[in-house]
Amino acid sequence: MAARWTPESWRGKPARQMPEYPDAAALAAVEGKLRGFPPLVFAGEARALKASLARVAEGNAVLLQGGDCAESFAEFGANNIRDSFKVLLQMTVVLMYGAGLPVVKIGRMAGQFAKPRSDATETQGSVTLPSYRGDIINGIEFTPESRIPDPQRMMQSYSQAAATLNLLRAFSHGGYADLHRVHGWTLGFVERSPAGEKFRALADRIDEALKFMEACGIKADNPQVKEADFFTSHEALLLPYEQALTRVDSTTGDWYDCSAHMVWIGDRTRQLDGAHVEFCRGIKNPLGLKCGPSSDPDELIRLIDILNPENESGRLTLIARMGHDKIGAKLAPLVRRVQREGRKVVWSSDPMHGNTIKSTTGYKTRPFDRILGEVRSFLEILPSEGAYAGGVHFEMTGQNVTECTGGAEAIDDHALADRYHTHCDPRLNASQALELAFLIAEGLKASRLNGQDSRRAAAAAQ
Ligand code: PEP
Ligand code: CO
Repeated sequence: MAARWTPESWRGKPARQMPEYPDAAALAAVEGKLRGFPPLVFAGEARALKASLARVAEGNAVLLQGGDCAESFAEFGANNIRDSFKVLLQMTVVLMYGAGLPVVKIGRMAGQFAKPRSDATETQGSVTLPSYRGDIINGIEFTPESRIPDPQRMMQSYSQAAATLNLLRAFSHGGYADLHRVHGWTLGFVERSPAGEKFRALADRIDEALKFMEACGIKADNPQVKEADFFTSHEALLLPYEQALTRVDSTTGDWYDCSAHMVWIGDRTRQLDGAHVEFCRGIKNPLGLKCGPSSDPDELIRLIDILNPENESGRLTLIARMGHDKIGAKLAPLVRRVQREGRKVVWSSDPMHGNTIKSTTGYKTRPFDRILGEVRSFLEILPSEGAYAGGVHFEMTGQNVTECTGGAEAIDDHALADRYHTHCDPRLNASQALELAFLIAEGLKASRLNGQDSRRAAAAAQ
């Protein structure tokens, strides 16, 4: 029998990666205020996302999750939100066409503020200070004052998340997400960018498909064409904040973390007896669980027992982040075991976090080819184990940054200095993100056609 869960039962467990606030009274005051604030999302929306993810788990949809590594107070603004949303929609259209399936869209947005760190301290020259842990916890400036955890930052995060979500809802349902318009932007990308040219044929086919739909009478004002369902997610790392936004849903009596539709447990905080697993097991939101190279099949099954005891489809997304060179050896044993035990999960690939290296010019970067390599391996390994490669998880931005090397624009180690703006990990820029979506779509389309060919061949042989 599992021990009783409450929104604060995590407090009795060891919690990694959590800041120590020097002023306990100030922390309690902020938590009290947040508990009185309105929820950011509604439980019914989290249930709708779970139902959509269940379709992914069953092989009838694709998951696209993406956004900033770390949202920041400094980069907060309508243009940034719009541009990230826009690229995610463009990627959606391309993937939808490639897979021939609906795409479930989840932003790493409106709450992705807290960061787990490999090192508790950072040293510059002869000075060592506590690490930056995301704008919701402390400041990025390298000064002793800025690195002190400040609970007031949770208030600013809440208001930034609320404003971001408000704009995302307006974009999703106010006409901005119109399929024709989104495809129009992609045609612009094909025209203008060296990355786009090689995808002209695929973009033209999407164009024809849209015209065909119109000819069939699917009108431009149809909500399927004009609107998009868009959900939000972030890592449930800073538990005092997550707890304060956890509320009972009046229709079901269940607890939901109303800070986002979906939250995930990071690779550094997935201990079986840890605070993060304890918190997440009791909320009814769809959950993600990052699985890095140290994941072990037995431990993974025990985590699934805790996080999805009813074996509900759509409840749990396993996000593999192995690294292009490790995925071959590490992923198959996990998938095989989950399959053997009949666990219903969504498998998604985060090809970012296992592929971070230091450039010759000193920047933390991720080579485009390694990112693509990891996704391609993922797309091969899952079917070879009889499972479905359900989705992808990217760190990306709609801005024209230079943080990941490679891609058609061939960003090299020296070019990284031009526009390196991330507050934490290197992100794909708009053009790299869309290029990746096209490359994945080509692969999806090829394997779909192969599948059709072999089914046809099998039918003809009968
Ligand atoms: C992240 O998604 O930003 C992250 C820190 O991932 P992971 O827990 O997989 O390292
Ligand atoms: Co990251």
